[in-house]
Amino acid sequence: MGSTETAAAANIRTALAGSVLEVEIHRPEKKNALTGDMYVGLAAALDRAASDAAVRAILLTGTRESYCSGNDIADFLSRPPSNEASPVMQFLARIQAAEKPIVAAVNGMAVGIGTTMLLHCDYVVAGEGASFSLPFVNLGLCSEAASSLLLPATIGHRRAAEMLLFGDRIDARRAFEWDLVNAVVPDGEVLEAGRKRAQALAAKPAEALRTTKAFLKRQLGNAARERIAEEGREFARLLHEPAAREALTAFVEKRPPNPERYK
Ligand code: COA
Repeated sequence: MGSTETAAAANIRTALAGSVLEVEIHRPEKKNALTGDMYVGLAAALDRAASDAAVRAILLTGTRESYCSGNDIADFLSRPPSNEASPVMQFLARIQAAEKPIVAAVNGMAVGIGTTMLLHCDYVVAGEGASFSLPFVNLGLCSEAASSLLLPATIGHRRAAEMLLFGDRIDARRAFEWDLVNAVVPDGEVLEAGRKRAQALAAKPAEALRTTKAFLKRQLGNAARERIAEEGREFARLLHEPAAREALTAFVEKRPPNPERYK
């Protein structure tokens, strides 16, 4: 990114490029796994976008190799989200409520919240090597970010069930066929393609754009807010259950989980 400002969290980089607030998830050594501080940084970036009239569109992106590998798993164990004040819930509330258009440019892996946050974006461009997975059940957890509502609405029940129940990774080609993303471009062109789309939106009449986005979101908006809260409560409960403790601990200890310990 050009003139980079550092947001509240060091791993969330923001830069204003014309009228587009570019927000980069930048923790490449952990494949851009999100910690509590990073959710605070993302929420702060979205707050800034909402309050700054100079911002007319938002571009979310990761790094070249990874968009986001989901919530930091060690954080899940040491600082599990417990209520609506948790950083992750603050971030989700803001991305769900965003009035300005959000474009996502996805290179590499989008795991867990790396994929569910895309359901709150207005346009998603992915690189040919991008992949998308929702391994919640495999980790003893449940859907989050209203994905149980928005994913079937976006790609259909069967495909949503396939992604959420099996947790298999789908590639960019399939994500495009399934309407999870708008466009697939060569990996080296993702950021530029995302920038172009965000800049195009930023150049449009802002009030017309805002009104149309609000109508687009009206149907599922209230239900999505409720579902984020409901899923958040179940997710927080499941984090303390033996299955999640075992699956998450196994990841941290770099060993396969032992299903005997799920009960
Ligand atoms: N939380 C914490 N650390 C993570 C992480 C996460 N979600 N995802 C990756 N990392 C860390 C790895 O532990 C590793 O750390 P190390 O170098 O200190 O050993 C580093 O990032 C690189 O990851 P690695 O697993 O070596 O890369 P990979 O390309 O082989 O695999 C993933 C990438 C994303 C497929 C794999 O790391 C993974 O499955 N991560 C967990 C994803 C997940 O389940 N997220 C939660 C969803 S709710």
